[in-house]
Amino acid sequence: MITIKKEEDIVRLRKAGKILAAMLVELSKKTLPGVSTLDIDNYTNELCKKYGVVPVFLNYKPYGASRPFPASICVSINDEIVHGIPNETPRTFKEGDIVSLDMGVSYEGMIVDSATTVGVGKIDEAAQRLLDTTRGSLKAGIKAAVSGSRTGDIGFAVEDFVNNESKIFAEKTGLKKIKPFGIAENLGGHGVGYEVHEDPFVPNFGKKNQGPILKPGMVIAIEPMLNEGTDRIMIGRDGWVYQTLDGKRSAHFEHTVLITDKGPEILTA
Ligand code: MF3
Ligand code: CO
Repeated sequence: MITIKKEEDIVRLRKAGKILAAMLVELSKKTLPGVSTLDIDNYTNELCKKYGVVPVFLNYKPYGASRPFPASICVSINDEIVHGIPNETPRTFKEGDIVSLDMGVSYEGMIVDSATTVGVGKIDEAAQRLLDTTRGSLKAGIKAAVSGSRTGDIGFAVEDFVNNESKIFAEKTGLKKIKPFGIAENLGGHGVGYEVHEDPFVPNFGKKNQGPILKPGMVIAIEPMLNEGTDRIMIGRDGWVYQTLDGKRSAHFEHTVLITDKGPEILTA
């Protein structure tokens, strides 16, 4: 069932989104060489207190998960795609790493979800291209999130952006065989607002004109995850982290978006 948010709940979601956006900016600035994933989790808890929001990933147990998520933020480094646990075996960031910070908060009971990927110090050109393309594919997906369209239109828009980018890159560099970035298989976005994960599933690839129709008042998280290499993924030893099967790097950007009759409204901008 896809929920339609009430007007007063949309007001709360807007407030929650502004807070989460500010938190991710502060967390991004902290993601520096020598800082640890545990530092980031601790800082997340501090920021939640400061802003009066609840970290909703802490102890969240989605259907099928082996155990609840043990931290307040997902921190995923390099070949880790999403759901990295920051506090059990803390790791220290090194210059050149790329780090996904994925965070969900609740404000007066309303939940928003957003993620960004940041470079630690100076990153190489390939990493920068991966980040820029993933950010661009999110933007393309959001643009497709209009009333009357379907979730498949979002997936198509993300995939189409990724394929086009590889063609443009091939032309620019004169290289013949450029494979588009891999779009992490099986993973995708979701409805959000009253729960962390609601219907519908929001794919990052696929065909136009498939899936549920988007209507004003629906709130969805769009979250492309792009890999330098294969789209194949595996789950790590801790039962939570998803990693690329080939060990190449991955990037992730996510926004919570409200469908309106005037187009998509990014709540976490
Ligand atoms: N943004 C993540 C997702 O949509 C949040 C997962 S909740 C967690 O999958 F508990 F796994 F962190
Ligand atoms: Co999400």
